[in-house]
Formats: sequence, structure tokens, C-alpha cells
Amino acid sequence: MSSDVPDNAGTDPEPPPAHVAVIMDGNGRWARKRMINRVKGHEKGAETVRMLVRTCREIGIRYLTLYAFSTENWQRPKSEVKALMALRKRFLAAERSEMIENNIRLNVIGEIDRLPDDVRESLRRVMDDTDTNNGMQLNLALSYGGRSEIVSACRAVARRVAAGEVAVDAITPELFETFLQTADMPDPELLIRTSGEYRISNFLLWQIAYSELFVTPTLWPDFTREEFLDILSEYRRRERRFGRIND
Ligand code: IPE
Ligand code: IPE
Ligand code: MG
Repeated sequence: MSSDVPDNAGTDPEPPPAHVAVIMDGNGRWARKRMINRVKGHEKGAETVRMLVRTCREIGIRYLTLYAFSTENWQRPKSEVKALMALRKRFLAAERSEMIENNIRLNVIGEIDRLPDDVRESLRRVMDDTDTNNGMQLNLALSYGGRSEIVSACRAVARRVAAGEVAVDAITPELFETFLQTADMPDPELLIRTSGEYRISNFLLWQIAYSELFVTPTLWPDFTREEFLDILSEYRRRERRFGRIND
């Protein structure tokens, strides 16, 4: 562990959050500020992803969910969508061995069938190669939308009801969430959004019901390990009440 990690990181009596979710926003503005192509911003953003995955693994976060491409992002110009997909594929190829080495399991949430064949194949390969890893799970949200996820879960439940396998009155929040793509994962305790936008943009709508929200003005390519550790420290200071009263 390098010297800039606080002494208590990982050994703090308060464990780190089990699940951190991040809306990685601001790549385009980072590039615009430098008067370079937006794709350069996405490329730089991939370096921040690498840093964050390493940091989370190091301090013992069990699940990291990264919003990498939304269902709405398909509406961007074809050239940008193409560049983003190529970049995701390059990222997977470059990170495969590190994920294997560091015991990281790759998982994807989102409409995986809508992804180009080559990206889907790369994902499958890395998911297969890391399937038994249990140090940390990296969830890439690709062609992901919270509404689409919830509707898919509704369809799955409805099919079970129609088949006579589930009674209508047996549908509870606990049962329902087993049909989401995040079944078996804890809800994120912490949701970070970079680039100063105060919105959720269709990310994990069900799962963030009680997440602590952090919005930083920092653009994603500029987001550092130090800022992430600061956010974790602030998270520890927050009082989570879940609707109750703390004496
Ligand atoms: C986030 O950066 C990356 C994706 C949405 C894929 P943006 O591309 O949204 O950057 P801004 O918001 O235009 O600055
Ligand atoms: C959210 O960012 C999606 C990702 C980070 C992948 P956007 O830039 O697409 O969101 P809006 O358009 O600002 O809501
Ligand atoms: Mg954006």
C-alpha cells in the first residue's frame, strides 16, 4: 500500500462501503476546455477508471459499479458511440491480466444484447476468465438504464406469475429485487457523480433508494485517488438514519 493512503484505510473500525457506484461524467467538457476532440476526453477518462479500480481493490471495497454507457447515450453521434465502444473494448483487453492477477471479477449490467458483437465477445471472454475471482466485483454498466432494468424485471416476474409459479401477493420488494441485474449484491452505500451535475441520469434507480450522494465539480479525467479517499472520509462522517431517529 503506498504512503498516501491514510493509515486507517482498510483497517478503520468502520469498514469501507461494500458497494460504491460512480457516474463518470465530464469527459467531453474536459476535452472542450483543451480544444481537443471529445474522444480524447474519453481516453483520458479510461485512465481514471484504472486508478479507481486499483484503489477500490486496495482498500477492500467489494463492489464497484461504473456507469460507462447509458441507454440514452445511444442517441449521441454515431462517430462518438463508435469511439466509445472501441475504447471499452481496448480497456477490456488492456485490463484483463490485471483483473486476473488482482482477483477482480468482471460483471456487466445493462442491455448487453445491444452492444456490438466484438464488444460483447470481449466482455464474455473477460467475464469467463475472471468468473471465480472473489477479491472485488467490477460491474460495468453498459447500455444500462435503470428504467429498462426495472421493466425487464417486471416482465420476468409477470412471466412467473403467468406460469403459476409466483402468487401476486408474494411479490415483495425483497422478491422483486432478485429479478434485477444486481441481485445478490448489496445496494450501493455511496454514489459519486463527477462534473457537478445534480442528477441521476437513469442510473440504478431502484438500488440507490438510500445511497449517500456525493457530487463533485471535478471532471472525470481530473478525478484523483486523493479526492476519492476524501469522499470516503466524508462518507464515514455522515449519519445514515434510514428513516429512523438516532438518539
Ligand atoms: C461521460 O462524459 C462519458 C459518457 C457519458 C460515456 P460525457 O461524454 O458525458 O462528458 P460531458 O458531460 O459531455 O462533459
Ligand atoms: C451519464 O452521463 C451516463 C454516463 C456517465 C455513462 P451523461 O452525460 O450521459 O448524462 P446527462 O446527459 O448529463 O444526463
Ligand atoms: Mg455528460
